[in-house]
Amino acid sequence: MERQSVTDSSVELRLCRVDAVEEGEALRVEIDGRPPLAVYHVDGEFFVSDDTCSHGEASLAEGSVDGAEVECPWHSGKFCLRTGNAVNFPAVTPIRVYPTIVRDGEVFIKSNQEQS
Ligand code: FES
Repeated sequence: MERQSVTDSSVELRLCRVDAVEEGEALRVEIDGRPPLAVYHVDGEFFVSDDTCSHGEASLAEGSVDGAEVECPWHSGKFCLRTGNAVNFPAVTPIRVYPTIVRDGEVFIKSNQEQS
């Protein structure tokens, strides 16, 4: 379900309920027409990134969450969930991260309409 923002050209996309993601875990979310996303729950905060690792085709939601970093399940590349930067070899290319909103027990991201 998409919700149009009244303040700018971005849209809010509803991803999941907050209780669908355990503390210290991640959840893969698929939305029609977009690359899969990963929702992370870290110390009461939620982060969202593209789910596919930039080094290969691994699902980062299947990786290990360690603080505000996720370790890829395939080759142990690591990414910062705040910036998307690769912080551990062999991952060197950042992943996309999204501004995340928690409201009414649901997790949303802001995403420009032209992003796909
Ligand atoms: S596929 Fe993620 S580090 Fe290689």
